[in-house]
Amino acid sequence: MSTDPRLDYPATQRNREVILEVLREVLPEQGTVLELASGSGQHVAFFASALPQLRWQPSDHDASVFASIAAWTDDLGNVAAPVRIDAASPTWPLNPGWACDAVICANMIHISPWAACLGLLDGVSQCLREAGPLCLYGPFMRGGVHTAPSNEGFDKSLRARDPRWGVRDLDEVARAATRRGLVLDRVFEMPANNLSVVFRRVKR
Ligand SMILES: C[S@@+](CC[C@H](N)C(=O)[O-])C[C@H]1O[C@@H](n2cnc3c(N)ncnc32)[C@H](O)[C@@H]1O
Repeated sequence: MSTDPRLDYPATQRNREVILEVLREVLPEQGTVLELASGSGQHVAFFASALPQLRWQPSDHDASVFASIAAWTDDLGNVAAPVRIDAASPTWPLNPGWACDAVICANMIHISPWAACLGLLDGVSQCLREAGPLCLYGPFMRGGVHTAPSNEGFDKSLRARDPRWGVRDLDEVARAATRRGLVLDRVFEMPANNLSVVFRRVKR
């Protein structure tokens, strides 16, 4: 029986290069990047290896993935041990005054209740430094309309699994973000009808 704790998410291996291209454009030169919903840890391992000047803080609400994150990143000196953050929780277990220079989150806001998206925006608005980017990756509707039949089918399958889940409308996410001082800055079209969307923290 294998004792390797590393989880392997095939989609993550497929999309990591194109997400990295976006991150190279929008992340600051230096500082700390908080990743929410790290899952297997394959993204943070790949990004931290490609961008070694940045410090990386992985997290997830599910502590059972921490062994996988640690195993994928244990040879990288710029990745901290994962912390448990439930995006939907009103308080995040970060030290008072803890701040980061960027936040990334891939494939989470449609696979969780809307409250997790709002909680993410609340939490990020508190810990992200001014002008720092919040980068979300995944499928989105635009103007309340699906951008591809495959996304519509995916949305139906998500809602069948849990009626609180579903592909989010970028306009609705952007309105909720603006109310929290996070302004939509860039939208990148990605393969397989996904988007990378970048918000910026405005002056408080
Ligand atoms: C589809 S996986 C994506 C993992 C990784 N970001 C990727 O793209 O490979 C969704 C992840 O979101 C996490 N998640 C779901 N709800 C969450 C919440 N409320 N707060 C933080 N993480 C959450 C799950 O535990 C899971 O690791």
